[in-house]
Amino acid sequence: MADDLSIAKGTKQEQYTALIPQIKGLLSGEDDLIANLGNITAALKEQFNWLWVGFYLVKQDELVLAPFQGPVACTRIKKSRGVCGAAWQQEQTLIVPDVEKFPGHIACSSLSKSEIVVPIFHQNKVIAILDVDSIYLDEFDETDKKYLEEIVGLIVW
Ligand code: SME
Repeated sequence: MADDLSIAKGTKQEQYTALIPQIKGLLSGEDDLIANLGNITAALKEQFNWLWVGFYLVKQDELVLAPFQGPVACTRIKKSRGVCGAAWQQEQTLIVPDVEKFPGHIACSSLSKSEIVVPIFHQNKVIAILDVDSIYLDEFDETDKKYLEEIVGLIVW
């Protein structure tokens, strides 16, 4: 496929629907995990222009920063700490409309106002999370949950 991403306009659903086949194209025929995680973060950032899009990988008892797009971020997060550690512990996607109201939220950037964290499963265990931050309050909803879960399901581990 061409290297340029085609940026869709329209509703959130229309944007995801246009983006997902392109992400499939980017992943197809490539089995390098870091390359694929990098391209997913770049594609999401280009399409939605969120503040921060990135992965953390479970390594022993911590989440460790992996490919991302956006401002520099904390490198290690313990289980149950912050939104990322909570999504890992609870094994479910967490939507946080106002990060200041989430007890223990880890503020990597003072610009972040809302957040969604999607756990990624392999052989029934959480092996990574996708974290997305927005400068706007209440940016993320069930549509983001549905499509971001679909996107992380495309990753071959
Ligand atoms: N806010 C996250 C930390 C990661 S950064 O947002 C990139 C949290 O509370 O877990």
